[in-house]
Amino acid sequence: MTLAIIGGTGIEQLEGLETVSSHRVDTPYGEPSRAVDEGRLGGARLFFLQRHGSPDAIPPHSINYRANIWALRELGATDIVAINAVGGITPAMATGSLVIPHQLIDYSWGREHTFDEGAGGQLLHIDFTEPYDPELRRALLDAAAAASVDLIVGAVYGVAQGPRLETAAEVDRMERDGCDVVGMTAMPETALARELGLAYASVSMVVNPAAGRSSEPITLEGMRAILSAGAAQVRALIRELVALRYSG
Ligand code: HPA
Repeated sequence: MTLAIIGGTGIEQLEGLETVSSHRVDTPYGEPSRAVDEGRLGGARLFFLQRHGSPDAIPPHSINYRANIWALRELGATDIVAINAVGGITPAMATGSLVIPHQLIDYSWGREHTFDEGAGGQLLHIDFTEPYDPELRRALLDAAAAASVDLIVGAVYGVAQGPRLETAAEVDRMERDGCDVVGMTAMPETALARELGLAYASVSMVVNPAAGRSSEPITLEGMRAILSAGAAQVRALIRELVALRYSG
């Protein structure tokens, strides 16, 4: 099994990864967000891709999700852990928490969302009842326990189109629908990984209260400050996951 990490907002590099090469991959869907780093971490070989490119410029609705997932599979990744920044909707989703979602609702639109283009190709009616891989989620929980990292286990991720943030009424509707957190990048990434048979799970960091859940304005600077404060936790979690599941 080979792990790839997809970094989100504020995760430019995977610290501690000794990069051995950098792959520019051309895919049938165009180019990934940037070159994929290949490196070693604690004795395991793994890949890292920043989905917003470098320096962090591609907005969520313009990311070439198909090229990203295709490139990682092409390079030999079997498992993907995605890092996502999200807003907290329900009271338990406090700012600064790390969350392992178990479900999602897709409110995004107009994105290239499948490898199934008809035209005589393979029909890809994937089973998406459980969008996140249960075994990989369990491995993340084991890793968190071993690394003494606090996690919220289970949340419904609502995928907004962006790039603007939501209105308070949109967040209220998401809460009525059952969403716990809101972000912009879980889809179509999660479904595309399933279409290619890759195991996929998300580590979502709550970086702000969602719209209407706090009197403070939501700013990118505020989100980045929370992300950099929490980056050490994410790093510890990934390091332990690699030790438990991908080494030797
Ligand atoms: N909404 C949507 N996406 C986000 C948010 C939010 O509040 N915070 C981080 N990504």
